[in-house]
Amino acid sequence: MNFSLITLFLAAIILAAASASNASDEPPSAKKILVAYFSWSGNTRGIAKEIQKKTGGDIFEIEPVKAYSKNYNECLDQAQKDQRLQARPELKNLVDDISKYDVIFLGYPNWWASIPMPIASFLEGYDLSGKTIVPFCSHGGGRLGQSVSAIAKLAPRSTILDGLSVHYDGGSSLGNDIDSWLRKIGL
Ligand SMILES: Cc1cc2nc3c(=O)[nH]c(=O)nc-3n(C[C@H](O)[C@H](O)[C@H](O)COP(=O)(O)O)c2cc1C
Repeated sequence: MNFSLITLFLAAIILAAASASNASDEPPSAKKILVAYFSWSGNTRGIAKEIQKKTGGDIFEIEPVKAYSKNYNECLDQAQKDQRLQARPELKNLVDDISKYDVIFLGYPNWWASIPMPIASFLEGYDLSGKTIVPFCSHGGGRLGQSVSAIAKLAPRSTILDGLSVHYDGGSSLGNDIDSWLRKIGL
């Protein structure tokens, strides 16, 4: 190696080290995050709280004015009817100034292989253009089902990232599963 090659080599190392140290000085995410969820029996709520803890976002529970029956079979029937009619159940509360959020984690149980209809009411209730929506779904075996395409239709001007599906409450691997998913989607 002659002298100028050595100089070039050293300069490249110094530049690489400088840019690596800049990268590590940046905050992990300057994006403003909301974790919004609907949960009937509590599994999605637990996952939402874990995501909130890890991302530092705000949390919001999506609740229909008329609650679904606490009886499982009755709830199954109500949910199926809602889906067949493409109902838009009225919601109890509104997010206070949704315009301040860049990223909305949106959680729900898999109901009849898709979203529960309160999720449709939520998505249609706001202007979500330009926002990033990150679905997460608790399920009993059907994973995300058709839920992500249902969300994409209801939020056509949002970017939808890869969703996380969690079997019931996610068990003891929930924290690690959320960590690797957040890394994969870059949040
Ligand atoms: C009305 C209703 C419909 C459901 N449909 C499905 C389904 O199609 N596929 C599936 O894997 N699980 C289904 N499940 C199971 C739920 O997705 C699962 O129990 C989930 O963990 C519930 O989340 P939650 O506790 O947040 O309500 C259904 C449950 C209910 C109550």
